[in-house]
Amino acid sequence: METETRRRVERVSEFAIEHVRALQVLDSRGDPTVEVVVVTKGGGCGRGTAPAGASRGLREAVELRDGGRRYLGRGVESAVAAVNRYIAPAIVGMSSHRFREVDRRIIEVDGTPNKSRLGANATTATSLAVVNAAADTAGLPLFEFLGGRLARTLPVPLMNIINGGAHAGNELSFQEFMVAPVGASTFSEALRMAVEVYKTLKELLKKTYGPQAINVGDEGGFAPPMRETREALEAIARAVSEAGYEVGEDFVLAIDAAASHSYRDGAYLVDGRRLESDGLLELYASIVSEFPVVSIEDPFAEDQPHYFRELRSALGGRALVIGDDLTVTRAELVSRHFSEGAIDGAIVKINQVGTLVEAEESIELLKRLGGRAIVSHRSGETEDASIAHIAVAYGTGLIKTGAPARGERTSKYNELLRIEDYLSGDSRYAGRGALGRS
Ligand code: PGA
Ligand code: ZN
Repeated sequence: METETRRRVERVSEFAIEHVRALQVLDSRGDPTVEVVVVTKGGGCGRGTAPAGASRGLREAVELRDGGRRYLGRGVESAVAAVNRYIAPAIVGMSSHRFREVDRRIIEVDGTPNKSRLGANATTATSLAVVNAAADTAGLPLFEFLGGRLARTLPVPLMNIINGGAHAGNELSFQEFMVAPVGASTFSEALRMAVEVYKTLKELLKKTYGPQAINVGDEGGFAPPMRETREALEAIARAVSEAGYEVGEDFVLAIDAAASHSYRDGAYLVDGRRLESDGLLELYASIVSEFPVVSIEDPFAEDQPHYFRELRSALGGRALVIGDDLTVTRAELVSRHFSEGAIDGAIVKINQVGTLVEAEESIELLKRLGGRAIVSHRSGETEDASIAHIAVAYGTGLIKTGAPARGERTSKYNELLRIEDYLSGDSRYAGRGALGRS
């Protein structure tokens, strides 16, 4: 009995955080970002690296940037110092197994409503490093550590294959044009189908617009010299059928309008025109009738939630309305906008709030309310693949992590392939059900 107890105590103390160290590394845009390494007493080691957005919501947690001349002001030495000086001493000795308590301690040390003291880049990287160290100490992959044996649903990827808005140097005002391979029966099949469509689209764009059209934007999707929303959707629909798939069956489409970023002086700059909110609503309604677009993210600026609501009722369930800049992964915003009927679900980005525990709160809330949670990357990414595990752990059934190209995007897809392989036959692919309106 005594030995049993001692063994248990030893095992618990194995999870104690022994060492925390931050350093500055680069993200996919060549901007510096924060990476944190956590080592536990039992020798477990975990890493976390913060991504960075280009089209951020006003209510997001803020990242610390150094300013000045080094890295043209984009350095994060101040956030790195915040981890080493303030976070590390506050969490060393705590159990990484109780990562929620560690996150709450970090929130307390920051003490601001938007992580502006320590920086959301510092807190995000630390939060992810802690939970990865705990999983490593437990000898489990992160998804299993977080989600247990029941975590076996591989998400449908919403793959951004044409980039516009703040992510590309073209004239498309909507930021993302996505395909979702809902007709596949496994994740690996979904990925193969999406790659076939991506490559077919590449050839098609080259033929129609010339070789410059196959340059890619921040999330790995093509950035062709298009201006019209319909032109992008038509090209994608054509690529799907030329690749041998049925549009609306094997693949459905999705848009992230990121509309806050095309909103100027009371109107939206869309398709080379100035559109009032009502005009934009009509555009969405006709797009949804013409194409199998089943999800529209941030259709209006974040200070127009009433238009989100109007769009939702105009669409009558034909497409989901999703909040991103509107909800910024904050549970109170997700809860308010969902209960007021403005959204069917929300994007979940850990660095919008700054810790896993806060992102988890939004996911759990959406699950309870019957809403969709879409775990998402940022346009500035790193090789950190934690979000692949997080999507599986919480069984969200949906992930947004860019085109099936470029290392910082494929790192997540490849991790999902590994998870599927690890589950060897026990996994299920979320498929069509993931995008139907609840
Ligand atoms: P961001 O964009 O990472 O540049 O903010 C992604 C999104 O709006 O979904
Ligand atoms: Zn978005």
